[in-house]
Amino acid sequence: MALRDAEFSAEFRSQLDLLMRLRRDVRRFRTDPVDEAALTRCLAAFDLAPSVGLSQPWRILRIETDAARDAALKNFQTANREALAGYSGERAQLYSRLKLSGMQEAPVQLAVYCDDGTEQGHGLGAGTMPETRRYSVVCAITLFWLRLRAEGLGLGWVSVLDPAQLNRDLQVPQDWHLIGYFCLGHPEDVSETPELEQKGWECRRAAMPVEIR
Ligand SMILES: Cc1cc2nc3c(=O)[nH]c(=O)nc-3n(C[C@H](O)[C@H](O)[C@H](O)COP(=O)(O)O)c2cc1C
Repeated sequence: MALRDAEFSAEFRSQLDLLMRLRRDVRRFRTDPVDEAALTRCLAAFDLAPSVGLSQPWRILRIETDAARDAALKNFQTANREALAGYSGERAQLYSRLKLSGMQEAPVQLAVYCDDGTEQGHGLGAGTMPETRRYSVVCAITLFWLRLRAEGLGLGWVSVLDPAQLNRDLQVPQDWHLIGYFCLGHPEDVSETPELEQKGWECRRAAMPVEIR
């Protein structure tokens, strides 16, 4: 069957729905290693992602050395203390009980950047909206996130960080903009409910399109 004739079955659609329902941001990881072949299959999702002008501006750093991991962890701990200081009363108590990164245990850690200066794509679409390069990286991460889940792996997005400090510690080029720091590994457990909802921080609401008439 030619690829263009491929049809997805009702069963596939329900599996896809299940994958999206069970995606989850993961902050609690088992410490056993991630299979490299599985990780490679998941990283291939970046090659399939949409990007403005086909610019593929994602740059992926795998954080392996103790020095780089320690710097990232310290960065998170400082930013997290500062974030806590911005809340008061019950909200502060609730915040202090949240686990907002799995950086101490996650076997694989990635810092993902957008190369704002890339010439790939010849500026198409990014001339009027340069931020679309960064959106492209987020699109790719979403595919990667789902692909990991399909492999039984989890991803936790860490944004409680000082990006300028991380950029210095990782010595990245000037044109690179931090999109996020990502913890990967086998989740301790899987739930249909986001952890922030379980802990009473926030609840999910249904998206409602507003019609312009
Ligand atoms: C751009 C972005 C940044 C995020 N930053 C953090 C973070 O720093 N720490 C954290 O624990 N979760 C972070 N998250 C995960 C969200 O808290 C999570 O997606 C949300 O609570 C919904 O839960 P779910 O992903 O399990 O559906 C981030 C998610 C996104 C999309």
